[in-house]
Amino acid sequence: EAGLRRQLIDIHEAATQYFEAQLKSPEAARAREYLTGRGVTAETIAKFRIGYAPDDFNDMRDRLKPHFGEEVMRASGLFSSKEQADGTQGQLYARFRKRITFPIANEQGKTIAFTARALDSDEKSGPKYMNSPETGLYTKGQVLFNLDKAKADMRSHDFALLVEGQMDCISVYMAGIHNVLATSGTAFTEMQVRLLSRFTKKIIVNFDPDTAGANAAEKSIALLTEEDFEVKVVTLEGGLDPDRFVREHGVQAYMAALRTAKRHSDYLIDRARQLFPARTADAKVKALNFLLPHIRRMPNRIHRDEFAADAAQK
Ligand code: CTP
Ligand code: MN
Ligand code: MN
Ligand code: MN
Ligand code: MN
Repeated sequence: EAGLRRQLIDIHEAATQYFEAQLKSPEAARAREYLTGRGVTAETIAKFRIGYAPDDFNDMRDRLKPHFGEEVMRASGLFSSKEQADGTQGQLYARFRKRITFPIANEQGKTIAFTARALDSDEKSGPKYMNSPETGLYTKGQVLFNLDKAKADMRSHDFALLVEGQMDCISVYMAGIHNVLATSGTAFTEMQVRLLSRFTKKIIVNFDPDTAGANAAEKSIALLTEEDFEVKVVTLEGGLDPDRFVREHGVQAYMAALRTAKRHSDYLIDRARQLFPARTADAKVKALNFLLPHIRRMPNRIHRDEFAADAAQK
């Protein structure tokens, strides 16, 4: 319903402003120190509308209550509540607490959800990142972080750079590479691929150089090549994710690393050799079995034959 949708957009804007204001409060001193420690400047905070959710169950609800109805507040996903003994839902309380907040925007730049990072990594603080649940506005698999800011440069440069995390995306963007998007730590979905294809069909994937990143890269490559995207893959040295790489080595070194991006076929062949390094027939069979689904998937016959020939040779 259009009325509810409008109100959900409004409450997300109000929440964005609330978190932004909270980040300036005395209570948020540690949050500001945390951000400074990670090289996040005032300019970055303003550009990405980074905020702070205070360690308080009630404050946000009480501030928004005069402006929004109970139904909208519940539907927003910004609050939680506990089921009562009689089966009804209890009072709303703030979902995000003691966390740095990052708005997730739609293509038009309107906030439709949040992801929020814990300041500490102890068990009590819960998961490192906490996300809005799916709502009438937000479907996780249909959104790409930073699409609103990246779309113009994606079109003009005719490629997109894909990273895992919000902080990767923000650091790379602030270093001047504007056609960057984040998947938010999950493999690509078909909807996201379709969304991207409206802007470009060339992608450089730069996920974290760890097992999770490699697995997510393989799945993303599969979906993208199936839709005839030209996919290249970068693996950064030293186990660094893009955020840390840019901060430790600078944007020039990062751009140099991007220029070493491998065609996805070469990346996968190298990966197969890494996973099955033995020179035995058995290892060769395993390596080919790893590659075959990727080869089969390619809709373009010429590219497919070339990939198959390279795989066989190597
Ligand atoms: N993620 C998540 N929930 C978690 C951990 C991760 O949703 N409990 C998502 C976040 O979008 C995160 C991404 O997966 O940005 C990549 O995860 P990871 O590499 O572990 O985090 P970083 O982005 O490197 O986070 P940071 O630099 O803040 O530690
Ligand atoms: Mn630009
Ligand atoms: Mn990771
Ligand atoms: Mn990181
Ligand atoms: Mn990471």
